[in-house]
Amino acid sequence: MRVVTIIPTYNEHQSLPLTLERLRAAVPHSDVLVVDDNSPDGTGELADAIAAQDTAVHVLHRRGKEGLGAAYIAGFRWALEQGYDVLVEMDADGSHQPEQLPAMLDAISSAHLVIGSRWVPGGSVVNWPFHRKLLSRAGSLYSRTMLGLGVRDITAGYRAFRRETLESIDLATVDSVGYGFQVDMTFRVAKNGLRIVEVPITFVEREYGDSKMSGGIVFEAIANVTRWGFAARFFALRGRLTVR
Ligand code: GDD
Ligand code: MN
Repeated sequence: MRVVTIIPTYNEHQSLPLTLERLRAAVPHSDVLVVDDNSPDGTGELADAIAAQDTAVHVLHRRGKEGLGAAYIAGFRWALEQGYDVLVEMDADGSHQPEQLPAMLDAISSAHLVIGSRWVPGGSVVNWPFHRKLLSRAGSLYSRTMLGLGVRDITAGYRAFRRETLESIDLATVDSVGYGFQVDMTFRVAKNGLRIVEVPITFVEREYGDSKMSGGIVFEAIANVTRWGFAARFFALRGRLTVR
């Protein structure tokens, strides 16, 4: 099983080396792809320097900040082309602990998508202010209800996909820019009738740098989930009313 861990970065020069070191120690058989959006703080150059010392580390440079979703789509395309069997999503800031990846990789042998989940028994969040916890739980609840999904942590960003799972999705049509991308991908995997398993993780808030979460990102996610939810209901209803 060839595994690659994709790490999107925007201004993560303090966190990235620490995360890479932990990842390479915890899961030495996973290659790494850093997808940098031309970070002004030099994260891209730093990633290049690390890649020059470690042949398992690769770097994809993008023109500018185009959002988490766009960075992941570019990373997926690269990794599928390179023939990887399992594609992992991981934040650069240490929130997703590399030491918990082996449990997720165990689970992917009997699932199409594994979600590292904060909101299942055994999962937790360390050092998040109340408003972030509330936003995450409320966001998951709203998405779950609107989209009719059983997943507890729909916006989670720590994931493992089998290549077949991503091949079953038309990546060109995934256009969520922000963290709504995670909801979008979960919904698409579920609609394809594939198996999603949540594995509990401990999400630790970053020590260095700033979150890129913004009002615009939240708004995009709410608007999209609402649209997708109504569209799904409309099509279900129409299907029931149509005389075939
Ligand atoms: N290349 C690129 N381009 N990377 C980005 C961009 C972008 O536009 N925006 C964010 N990132 C990277 C960050 O550098 C970091 O490595 C990772 O994506 C997550 O960004 P954070 O800003 O640290 O996210 P967060 O901690 O607020 O949010 C976490 O929780 C969200 C809600 O559950 C993440 O795990 C998200 O993935 C998750 O959806
Ligand atoms: Mn973070």
